[in-house]
Amino acid sequence: MNIKSYKPNEINYCREASLISATILDELTNVISEGITTEEIDNYCLNRIIEMGGVPAPLFYRGFPKSTCTSLNRIICHGIPSSNRKLLNGDILNVDITTIINGWHGDTSRMYKVGNISVKALNLCQTTHECLIESIKEIKVGEPISNIGKKIEKIAGENNFSVVRDFCGHGLGINFHENPSIVHYYDKEYDNINFIDGMIFTVEPMINAGKYHSKILSDGWTAVTKDKTLSAQYEHTVYINGDSIEILTESPNGVFYS
Ligand code: MF3
Ligand code: CO
Ligand code: CO
Repeated sequence: MNIKSYKPNEINYCREASLISATILDELTNVISEGITTEEIDNYCLNRIIEMGGVPAPLFYRGFPKSTCTSLNRIICHGIPSSNRKLLNGDILNVDITTIINGWHGDTSRMYKVGNISVKALNLCQTTHECLIESIKEIKVGEPISNIGKKIEKIAGENNFSVVRDFCGHGLGINFHENPSIVHYYDKEYDNINFIDGMIFTVEPMINAGKYHSKILSDGWTAVTKDKTLSAQYEHTVYINGDSIEILTESPNGVFYS
């Protein structure tokens, strides 16, 4: 498999794009509350991306109609921002932002909790965040990529949740999505593919409260849980810089968001 590798001095635009995406996710903490629509959230993100000199990668990507993905409750990923529904007390929402700076991508997402959410929903969000952070700790040059899925499956399983199989993380840089795929469940095919120095990729586990099965709605994008249970996701863009694993989309304000 052809996996691209970058020197630290080659990825400045990727750092910048990642920082912009993360900065806006930080800001959304104060933007998202009961009564706002996902279209209004999308507009906020678009304006801020443009203000900071970037371009929203999802807009018109393979025909996607909006600047961000907003995935509410049972939506696993690729939810389309819409003016149809105001957020309600108890909702959980993923906002996924990818900014492009000079052709380089920075891709990250988080969960937002509207008002008082159920114990189950909170546990799902916390477990999903733990899956992301703990699996990133498994990344090491020369070790198999399957370490990521192994770790995520273990943590999700211990909490009686399931790991979505139909969507995965990905290499990125000049392209939004490229090799390798980063699957979040254990797949022995990835026992033989190792992390290499200089890789840039995302880890973005999607964890369901019920079964892992998904289906796509008639809009051709929105992926939902087949059994209608809640789903959560967190995503970071990661760079392997020798022995140090850099989370390029880390919160600039140290926002604790799980
Ligand atoms: N940001 C998403 C990811 O994590 C991709 C969204 S593609 C879109 O890979 F077309 F739906 F925007
Ligand atoms: Co991604
Ligand atoms: Co994303």
